Amino acid sequence: ARRIRIPDLQQAKQRHERWAMLTSYDTYTAALFEQAGVWALLVGDSAANTVYGYDSTLPITVDELIPLARAVVRSTNRALVVADLPFGSYERGPDQALGTAIRFMKETGAHAVKLEGGVRVVEQIRKVVSAGIPVMGHIGFTPQSEHALGGYRVQGRGGDAADRVLADAHAVAEAGAFAVVLEMVPVDVAKRVTAEIPIPTVGIGAGPDCDAQVLVWQDMLGLRTGKLPRFVKRYANLDSVISEAVEHYVTDVRDGSFPSEEHAFTGGWS
Ligand code: KIV
Ligand code: NA
Repeated sequence: ARRIRIPDLQQAKQRHERWAMLTSYDTYTAALFEQAGVWALLVGDSAANTVYGYDSTLPITVDELIPLARAVVRSTNRALVVADLPFGSYERGPDQALGTAIRFMKETGAHAVKLEGGVRVVEQIRKVVSAGIPVMGHIGFTPQSEHALGGYRVQGRGGDAADRVLADAHAVAEAGAFAVVLEMVPVDVAKRVTAEIPIPTVGIGAGPDCDAQVLVWQDMLGLRTGKLPRFVKRYANLDSVISEAVEHYVTDVRDGSFPSEEHAFTGGWS
């Protein structure tokens, strides 16, 4: 099968066919996820947390994200690969945004870039799109502005706030984005945005009415421990799978049951 392209996502919206997106930052997950039917892979700046161990997405740099995006592109032939523009790599204006987007396109082979913000980043979106680079928007809760937003909280609760999310969605679509992530917005807001704008909405904590869904893979497969956000569904418990397997390995090494003959080579002097 050929690679998913942007018109496929547009047609899916028209046909009311939903699709799944998942983050990926490395070769094995990229290949497994597209094989499992994930249409779009996001090399998210969530790699700040899930790969690099930072406690927010703010510190990750373009130079840290580019090699991960390159690995994901190299490991797939079916999924559309979207790379996040990290905090600090597009806020200064359209020229900076275009410069960063060009780096991702040239150095990783990604098919699109994503950046956070609505009305406040329309000039950036317009400029990047005008260079032939597809842009995915990201509105509602935007983790790169968590300090301005007062922490991880639902955006668009109450009439004025809901109006602002709707205005952001229209602004991003009119600026030429091909899709938009809606993060942590009330169900009715996501539903109205999805009905009104012509481009696909990709929900995360935005209820069941979006055109598509996205999750961070370590959240949904159970590698992340501690309290999970309300919008995460845990589909597997990789934390215990890995812990138990590694404990078994450690025990085997200590008591001498690994390696045994079957894992060893014969035929030196004997
Ligand atoms: O970086 C990321 O993983 C994201 C998704 C959660 C939308 O931006
Ligand atoms: Na992100």
